[in-house]
Amino acid sequence: MWLKAWKQNKVDSKDQISLERLPRHIAIIMDGNGRWAQKRALPRSMGHRAGVEALRKVVKTCSELGIKVLTVYAFSTENWSRPKDEVGVLMTLLTEYLRKELQELHQNNVVIRAIGGIADLPREAQRELDLSIKQTHNNSGLILNLALNYGGRSEIIDAVKKISNDVLTGKQKIEEIDEACFSDALFTSGLPDPDLMIRTSGEMRLSNFLLWQLAYTEIVVIQELWPDFGEKALIDAIKAYQKRDRRFGGIHKD
Ligand code: FPP
Repeated sequence: MWLKAWKQNKVDSKDQISLERLPRHIAIIMDGNGRWAQKRALPRSMGHRAGVEALRKVVKTCSELGIKVLTVYAFSTENWSRPKDEVGVLMTLLTEYLRKELQELHQNNVVIRAIGGIADLPREAQRELDLSIKQTHNNSGLILNLALNYGGRSEIIDAVKKISNDVLTGKQKIEEIDEACFSDALFTSGLPDPDLMIRTSGEMRLSNFLLWQLAYTEIVVIQELWPDFGEKALIDAIKAYQKRDRRFGGIHKD
């Protein structure tokens, strides 16, 4: 099992971070696949393929560490505007990833979930996703939350519509609308907000990712391109997070 492997072989890396103050929820913008490929004169599809490998490693490390939730931005609502072939490659990679990894993820107690407009994904991808979600939903380990056809603004608009409808039908009182009820109307309902958000490839943007949920999240931007991201970079990001002073808008009481 992954957890055992970590305990037996990786004591050195584990000691670099405090296991008591781990982020509960890590969110990642996996950026830079295209540039990684371009630097090697390879087609962009190879960059995305290498990106899947990086994702596999990061999922394994998060699971070993005992992180509760990992949300990865795999396909945004804006990514449909890429050339048809590239969109096709990304959808095929998603389907392949789930087909190949499901059993190992399941054996390692991972729960697969998805956020975004899943109904608009190609049928094959939806089928694999559905199967993976159903098979793993009783697991109790890492929640791997795949953001697919996801956009933060449309998620917020959908939540507004849902709450408005509840007001119209008498299920919700306007004066009782609060942050908790709004959070509940989002795709991430029931999950803690991310403590740490990592973006690779040096870009300092949120790119419509988890706009509501990232309000107090610590952001770590890494220069490495996503396919080069691995265990060491993840540990370094967690170390950077553990040095941050999180005040949530307040002041220190000591
Ligand atoms: C950004 O790189 C990455 C994406 C748009 C897709 C992320 C997808 C993966 C890591 C692999 C797919 C994984 C699954 C499970 C579907 P970019 O293409 O924008 O890179 P660039 O900015 O260098 O061009």
